[in-house]
Amino acid sequence: MDLKNRVRQLFIEKFGHSPDFIARAPGRVNLLGEHVDYNDGWVMPIAIDRVTYIAFSPAASDQTILWAGDFHQQASFYLRTLSTKTQSDDSPLPDWAYYPAGVMWSLREAGYETPAMQAVFISDVPRGAGLSSSASVELAFAIAWMTLGNWKIKPMDLALLCQRAENEYVGVNCGIMDQFASACGERDRLLVLDCRSLEYRSLPLPKDIVIVVADTSVRRKLRNSAYNDRRAACEEAVRILKQDLPRIKSLRDVSAAQFEELSAKLPPEVERRARHVVEEMMRTGRAVSFLEKGDVASFGGLMNQCHASLRDLYEVSCPELDVMVRVAQSLEGCYGARLTGAGFGGCTVNLVARKKAEAFEKSLAARYESETGLHPEIYVCTSANGAGLV
Ligand code: GLA
Repeated sequence: MDLKNRVRQLFIEKFGHSPDFIARAPGRVNLLGEHVDYNDGWVMPIAIDRVTYIAFSPAASDQTILWAGDFHQQASFYLRTLSTKTQSDDSPLPDWAYYPAGVMWSLREAGYETPAMQAVFISDVPRGAGLSSSASVELAFAIAWMTLGNWKIKPMDLALLCQRAENEYVGVNCGIMDQFASACGERDRLLVLDCRSLEYRSLPLPKDIVIVVADTSVRRKLRNSAYNDRRAACEEAVRILKQDLPRIKSLRDVSAAQFEELSAKLPPEVERRARHVVEEMMRTGRAVSFLEKGDVASFGGLMNQCHASLRDLYEVSCPELDVMVRVAQSLEGCYGARLTGAGFGGCTVNLVARKKAEAFEKSLAARYESETGLHPEIYVCTSANGAGLV
């Protein structure tokens, strides 16, 4: 049974009637521009065909009851219990429920109606793998509340409210990329977002390549706090660089030449983090023109550089990701390979010639498994539309 029918079926089992609505929201894979969104840089994600589905109906009372199909767990809360992060019976919210509760909180803070609902959700976006499973859950719930509350706002505004939920309710200081991609994805196209102005455009994906996602199957604990630490290092760099460059607001405003001149003033670790960001922003600038010219090889080269930088300067890779990337880069038909998303385990993204994709997947899986003893999941992903009702 496909995911959409499964969520409908589960809803009927749980609540004894058919859901009024079903919505979907995709995960994303980012091709270039990693760890730059919270530094006002440019990112290049696509929304993917891995999604969260939610089946929902208005509740009979003011209590929201959720069933998380992937966890086999229920949670329930009221508007009035949101601030204490507790359930209807005063017990703490389970971790997964922070995302829906956070979205309800953020929408209410912004003045939108969020009627209580009965809902079931399931997802095939792997969790903690760098493919934005959290953003896809957030956007699925945001669409559900927008539907039940009978209001409508632009996808980008919905994304911003979901980001606020994650920043202020869940406590992860993420940028806007994931929620943006889940909200604004376009089929067969890559998005290019300026995270400062929030202007974006989309570019067609070259026809003769495929995007292969390779999951190392490794998940690192303390991922969220390591992420917040990276962001704090970037802010620290801006604070120090401001002494010489008082007008800068973020690392976006620091040119490569200025950075070279002033980098010695930064503590070594902060210097490495900021160098990644400054150089990655230059890469994304060049990447857009390569893509417009159809120069996939040069684009892939930038992806390879990005991985080295995430590994050596930003230090968000891990041995398994490095193996997956090294093997991929040695295989025929692979233009570029790198870790995608926050890092600390999870997936790599690979740009591969369509004709070579099958052989690539097979060899990559076999060699990764023989080097690490771990069984990876490797698949071609296609780009999908952003979140909405189905
Ligand atoms: C996570 C965050 C994003 C972004 C990436 C790294 O996915 O949610 O905002 O910072 O990491 O590029």
